[in-house]
Amino acid sequence: MLVNLSNKRILLGISGGIAAYKSADLVRRLRDAGAEVRVVMTAAACQFITPLTLQALSGHPVHTELLDPEAEAGMGHIELARWADLVLVAPASADVIARLAAGLANDLLTTLWLACPGIKVIAPAMNQQMWVSSPTRENVECLLGRGVVVLGPASGSQACGDVGAGRMLEAVELARHCAGLFATGSLAGRRVVITAGPTREPIDPVRYVSNHSSGKMGYALAQACVEAGARVTLISGPVHLPTPERVQRINVGSALEMLSVAESAVSDGCDIFIATAAVADYRPVSVAEHKIKKTGDALTIELVRNPDIVATVASRPDRPFVVGFAAETRQVEEYAKGKLRDKRLDMIACNDVSRADIGFQSDDNAMVVFWDGGSQRLDKAPKTLIARELVSLIARQINPSL
Ligand code: C5P
Repeated sequence: MLVNLSNKRILLGISGGIAAYKSADLVRRLRDAGAEVRVVMTAAACQFITPLTLQALSGHPVHTELLDPEAEAGMGHIELARWADLVLVAPASADVIARLAAGLANDLLTTLWLACPGIKVIAPAMNQQMWVSSPTRENVECLLGRGVVVLGPASGSQACGDVGAGRMLEAVELARHCAGLFATGSLAGRRVVITAGPTREPIDPVRYVSNHSSGKMGYALAQACVEAGARVTLISGPVHLPTPERVQRINVGSALEMLSVAESAVSDGCDIFIATAAVADYRPVSVAEHKIKKTGDALTIELVRNPDIVATVASRPDRPFVVGFAAETRQVEEYAKGKLRDKRLDMIACNDVSRADIGFQSDDNAMVVFWDGGSQRLDKAPKTLIARELVSLIARQINPSL
């Protein structure tokens, strides 16, 4: 994806860890994407990489001291905190994460973090055992609870010889995720209708046919669309998720119910329709009035095809911009493009569900998005971040000047 950070001001905080060497590349990536970057380093970070390197790459003096009269005479620390649209601590060591969680302001970086009203992001990097330790887990949970965005860490071999989670994400990925966090406003005033979760097709009063959809992707998209300024109606099958703030949620059960609610929501006014729901393809021909008794060794339930909700919306004369999802285990591109055409979609986001680490119940996802004349791979990331990136892609299709 073209990473766009033009006019964005990023304060990069570097703490002490071997991954600090990647921060030099990160400064380049952020600046290449159009951001203005100022760097602040902890004392420990200066043991791993010199401020001079970061100064040369960022084009600005590097801030290291809280009580530095010379630096305060230039851009004082409170001014610097206010200047930043986003503060990114990369690498974020276990120590700095603990200090941020505790709300300490015992050096320049932690002070700036406290004083910064902008978006707050950490990219943890540490030994895998430190990452899974209870104190670190609790500190990260605490930061997440305050709305901090946590990027990574990735798994793999570590500088200390261990293998596991704790590697800082690559600079290019960090730059991409930061750009996704600025997608706000790109859907200002747009009306979005999203289907999410599974459907339940009743067999009798106590049984149904359904699937394992968690609804997480649809809910993350609803949240991302609201953040981007849209008015969102979320038509949801049964899931165990809280309704994102400022989203109008309508609960449904069966596919027929979902279709009927979707049609009326689109008739009420809809600019973008996003179909993330895992709609049951078939429903029992008839619903037994009473609970079916076990009488024989076998039971046959006749099923009939459900209507295709997204295709129905896409075939309306007043069709909105229509986005579908596809879960494939093979020939991902071929099947996705086929669905784009057959269902008359404007865009399709395709997951490879043969991968164990992403998909239905997972908090992470990875996908390839196709539209007429283009495609974009979105690498594995939390569904919340993938959702923001997808919203950016949708916004750019609707308004190419973005
Ligand atoms: O054909 P398939 O089920 O793979 O297509 C998936 C896409 O179509 C998803 O966007 C899903 O929400 C949508 N769909 C639908 N109604 C159906 C079946 C699928 O809206 N009955």
